[in-house]
Amino acid sequence: MRRILVTGGAGFLGSHLCERLIREGSSVICLDNFFTGTRENLSTLLKNPHFEMREGDVCQPLDLEVDEIYNLACPASPIHYQHDPVQTIRTNVLGAMQMLALAQRKNAKIFQASTSEIYGDPLEHPQKESYWGNVNPIGFRSCYDEGKRCAETLFFDYFRQYRVPIKVARIFNTYGPRMHPNDGRVVSNFIVQALKGEPITIYGEGKQTRSFCYVDDLIDAIIKFMRVDFSITGPINLGNPVEFSILDLAKEVLKLTGSRSQLIFKPLPSDDPKQRKPDITLAKTQLGWQPKVGLHEGLIATIRYFESLSSI
Ligand SMILES: NC(=O)c1ccc[n+]([C@@H]2O[C@H](COP(=O)([O-])OP(=O)(O)OC[C@H]3O[C@@H](n4cnc5c(N)ncnc54)[C@H](O)[C@@H]3O)[C@@H](O)[C@H]2O)c1
Repeated sequence: MRRILVTGGAGFLGSHLCERLIREGSSVICLDNFFTGTRENLSTLLKNPHFEMREGDVCQPLDLEVDEIYNLACPASPIHYQHDPVQTIRTNVLGAMQMLALAQRKNAKIFQASTSEIYGDPLEHPQKESYWGNVNPIGFRSCYDEGKRCAETLFFDYFRQYRVPIKVARIFNTYGPRMHPNDGRVVSNFIVQALKGEPITIYGEGKQTRSFCYVDDLIDAIIKFMRVDFSITGPINLGNPVEFSILDLAKEVLKLTGSRSQLIFKPLPSDDPKQRKPDITLAKTQLGWQPKVGLHEGLIATIRYFESLSSI
């Protein structure tokens, strides 16, 4: 049985990943400090004999027998990662160093949840992995963007210097059940506002575009990436290339929830990217993967989840 460590496993993506790995017959240890993650996200696993929950910080040294590590620990939404920017950088940089050191000692394969944010406000569209990005090093988002960029550097230096088998994925906007209701990300924001009948907040004119990947598609891609040949290290873009304007997303959410919420427009925050769309040619050719779930279908499942939350 493969022994797998998932850092940040109590969060949105991590909990889906833990479930999938257990379903596939692995034994999973989740390391999480519960900053944004919850035990409820893991309610289907807590009594499973092949699942272990460890409360702890990814920045602390760890000694465990593991065959694979998935490093997801890090708050992903601006509200959460800007809450304590220094801690965000620590998590990204020290966390990556601790996990890489563990992978090196145990000869384990290691996955890094990097992000499309490393492209910053891109001057190339769509973004290919060869694009180096346009990132503000001193802005409010920099603790996340630059932290993730430094983590990528560490991964490739451990690969070159110590031959640690690495897998670096640049994840684009992903949505689905178990997103945080109040994390300010656009999909959860719109759904929660629509379900409460509150005004839907659009920044700017809503013409900025995003591409949205459903969580099940993303987890498929992550697992495929880990299972392909050692030589395929990434960085590899994982996301859904179908683009929607923020305004179109708001209208679709209104339609699917049957809400009568009004649309209200507010000024764009600084460093907000105007366009974000992955070029997933590499993922298609190297992993034989592409997303299957359309926005309509994915939104229905996500809305159902938010409707089931008593807090809304
Ligand atoms: N969801 C997305 O659209 C998206 C896009 C790009 C990249 N990512 C990356 O994927 C990963 C997971 O994102 P998510 O959306 O599930 O976010 P999330 O906030 O739901 O999950 C992050 C998890 O990490 C834990 N964590 C934070 N700091 C920690 C620390 N120091 N030690 C241990 N645990 C810690 C949190 O408690 C939480 O459970 C993150 O690294 C994020 O940067 C996500």
